[in-house]
Amino acid sequence: MLATALSAALVGLDAHPVRVEVEAGRGVASFELVGLAEVAVRESRVRVKSALAQVGVHMGEYRIVVNLAPADLKKSGSGFDVAIAAATLAALGVVPPESLRDVLFLGELSLTGSVHSVRGVLPQLLGARRRGVTRAIVPQGNGAEAALVTGVEVGTVASIDKLLDALRGVAVLPRAVVAAPETDPAPAVDLSEVRGQASARRALEVVAAGNHNLLFLGPPGAGKTMLARRLPGILPPLSSGEALEVTAIHSVAGLLASSRGLVRGRPFRAPHHTVSEVGLVGGGDHPRPGEVSLAHHGVLFLDELSEFRRAALEALRQPLEDGSVTISRAQAKATFPARPLVVGAMNPCACGFRGDGTGRCICSAERVRAYRARLSGPLLDRIDVHVVLPPVNVGALQHGEGGEPTCAVRGRVERARAIQADRATRGEVRASTNALLSPGDLDRVASLCARGSSLLGSAVTRLALSARAYGKILRVARTLADLEGAAAVAPHHVAEAVGYRTLDRGATAPAESAA
Ligand SMILES: Nc1ncnc2c1ncn2[C@@H]1O[C@H](COP(=O)(O)OP(=O)(O)OP(=O)(O)O)[C@@H](O)[C@H]1O
Ligand SMILES: [Mg+2]
Repeated sequence: MLATALSAALVGLDAHPVRVEVEAGRGVASFELVGLAEVAVRESRVRVKSALAQVGVHMGEYRIVVNLAPADLKKSGSGFDVAIAAATLAALGVVPPESLRDVLFLGELSLTGSVHSVRGVLPQLLGARRRGVTRAIVPQGNGAEAALVTGVEVGTVASIDKLLDALRGVAVLPRAVVAAPETDPAPAVDLSEVRGQASARRALEVVAAGNHNLLFLGPPGAGKTMLARRLPGILPPLSSGEALEVTAIHSVAGLLASSRGLVRGRPFRAPHHTVSEVGLVGGGDHPRPGEVSLAHHGVLFLDELSEFRRAALEALRQPLEDGSVTISRAQAKATFPARPLVVGAMNPCACGFRGDGTGRCICSAERVRAYRARLSGPLLDRIDVHVVLPPVNVGALQHGEGGEPTCAVRGRVERARAIQADRATRGEVRASTNALLSPGDLDRVASLCARGSSLLGSAVTRLALSARAYGKILRVARTLADLEGAAAVAPHHVAEAVGYRTLDRGATAPAESAA
């Protein structure tokens, strides 16, 4: 008899339907699998055979052929096991074929018959819902993420015997239930702990308000890492749409714990500087998201930026421009969103003390140049705000008051973001944050008065800025105006925004300006 079950394969975040057809007939015992399946899928035969034996279904005297259609879509992973087992049960006449109709099956089987979680259940179900699927059976361990998809009735299964009972109609599978919302853990770190460093704190607030990229440059122990780690705390909470996107990416990467439903906190990813190109931007035969996508809607912190591999940093350029990563493979193209706020931190020179005012630096001018050249111009060009941190003043450390707490700064950031979102809702601009304003948007909402315009013009000439840098200054200036609640971008906003381009060619060397 021929039976069919519905399953799906993921390419990037896109779910493609897969039809599992099983033909079972009496004859020389065999269990074949066709349909462009890779090793893990082919091994499915062993798992399905063993799992079915656990419920007393032996395939000894049958000739079984499994076809995964469409044949031109490459199938990988172990997520088809449950669909293959279900279709086999129907083909053998153990369960009625109607019990599989219009149900999406996802899950991996173990030899003992338990059903294991698989990656990417959330995007699979979102894709299935778009195709009109209304019922699904997923592993119990994926229940929390599956429950986030409204409009699909999801049953969860822990073992093959429970699946068998459900398909026979003698038991009902437990419904997927929404996990208790993650209590927003009070951030473990607070901005009030940072002493001094007023300009770096200001920059942190500005980039949070407009979603701009940031580079900290300063001597060891000045607080660069400390400040960057406090950035997620001053960002507004994720909207529900953003949270769903972040959760889907984490699901594909296999980073969602089984009890975890919606990811509510802004991601903070701080990959080590030895990270590979693939680790940073994603890739692999079965494309997985890289750090830049895992940090989507959150913060990608590149600490010790100058130590990262050049190739890895260069690979970041395209995603930073496009807001997504596309990985091309022979069969399909995988796309992952990638719109993090990028923060880099590095020392001003190899010994770390250039320009700290103590004369400790032992680097020659040539060595300093070589050190900074590790960051390519094009990458630097993509960073909107550069800040040079001076060493922390001992007085500030011993007697200084801590700065404002995280919650106070977040209040201002949220107000500035609300103004930006409002402009987008009114249709004045297309982007919801200033960092993404198009040149046309800038003309509308960041036009300058004559004085602002001449200020910017002379800065562009003096610093030999690129057209990209010009646009970035305008975007940052718009954010500064929003933080002030000002309708128009004024010359002092332009002046502050230009001040954040310290590392541009021709600018005063940051080390010297820090002294
Ligand atoms: N501005 C500051 N206020 C309070 N404590 C500070 C400050 N700066 C540094 N510290 C203390 O010094 C420690 C090290 O700071 P941090 O790791 O942020 O320095 P860094 O600038 O990243 O240095 P490196 O260049 O070596 O990475 C912090 O954990 C904190 O205890
Ligand atoms: Mg550090």
